[in-house]
Amino acid sequence: MEKVKIAGREVFSIGFGTWTLGDDPKTRNREIDALRAGIENGVQVIDTAEMYGNGASERAVAEAIEPYNREDLFLISKVLPENASKMRLVKSLDASLQRLKTDYLDHYLLHWKGSIPLIETVEALEKERQKGKIKSWGVSNLDTDEMRRVMSFENGKYCSSNQVRYNLGDRGIEFDLLPLMRKHGIPLIAYAPVAKGDKLGSKFSEEKVLKDLAEKYRCDVFQILLAWCVRDKRTIAIPQSGNRQHVISNLRAAQIEFSEEDLSAIDQIYPEPNKKQSLALW
Ligand SMILES: NC(=O)c1ccc[n+]([C@@H]2O[C@H](COP(=O)([O-])OP(=O)(O)OC[C@H]3O[C@@H](n4cnc5c(N)ncnc54)[C@H](OP(=O)(O)O)[C@@H]3O)[C@@H](O)[C@H]2O)c1
Repeated sequence: MEKVKIAGREVFSIGFGTWTLGDDPKTRNREIDALRAGIENGVQVIDTAEMYGNGASERAVAEAIEPYNREDLFLISKVLPENASKMRLVKSLDASLQRLKTDYLDHYLLHWKGSIPLIETVEALEKERQKGKIKSWGVSNLDTDEMRRVMSFENGKYCSSNQVRYNLGDRGIEFDLLPLMRKHGIPLIAYAPVAKGDKLGSKFSEEKVLKDLAEKYRCDVFQILLAWCVRDKRTIAIPQSGNRQHVISNLRAAQIEFSEEDLSAIDQIYPEPNKKQSLALW
């Protein structure tokens, strides 16, 4: 299994997103079963947030993970920007811990930058890390200038991820954000790695180069998208799925090793960015 280093841990490169997990009572049990199928087949990183379903996602995650060994998992939650202050962050964190039925998070992220100064959020996150309520912290949806700012703070060195949108149709971060993160050893957590089930307009499922690669590796185009996302062995992709079969096939994507020829065939259709692009969001 392909492992990626994050905050001193080695975790499987394909995790699990939970944005809408547990929102719909009619599909909740199936979604929890899908997450359990993921855990039983190697998922360690589970990504949730206080925002998701206003706590419903964290509650569903708690239920899903209950039968498993907590130490094997790498639980991520996120604080909303308006709660990311010295006074409020701890309350948000405690509420997330309560919903998740755990006494620590492996990783806690600022969901995106709001009006609270980054320095205040960094200090609040670092205080909780030192107390042990969170093992590590990072950020999400921060572009290059904001990342530089975080790293300019004394405690910025403890920032151990940036979670941003990254898939074959959203390669903009490769221009300057990803090189900056690489330089500082900050792992990428890629959200929307299967382009929301190929619903972002790129029509990957119809693209010949991707279909040819799927045939070559005896898999489907979604696995090609995921394998491409984690190809550098320094990225964790967090696809969401409420479908047990999709979850299991997504995890198998980590076994695909592209050749140089495969990657350059992909680059011809989906080229690397040659200028700054604004961050793709949500
Ligand atoms: N930090 C942030 O601001 C931010 C923003 C967005 C997302 N996220 C995180 O990233 C996670 C993933 O992003 P996302 O949910 O937006 O997009 P995504 O994972 O790219 O796409 C999810 C969709 O893809 C479908 N899918 C997954 N695997 C499939 C497969 N093998 N075959 C066919 N369809 C498949 C799912 O449908 P099925 O259920 O039918 O499989 C679901 O509709 C979120 O759940 C959340 O945890 C974070």
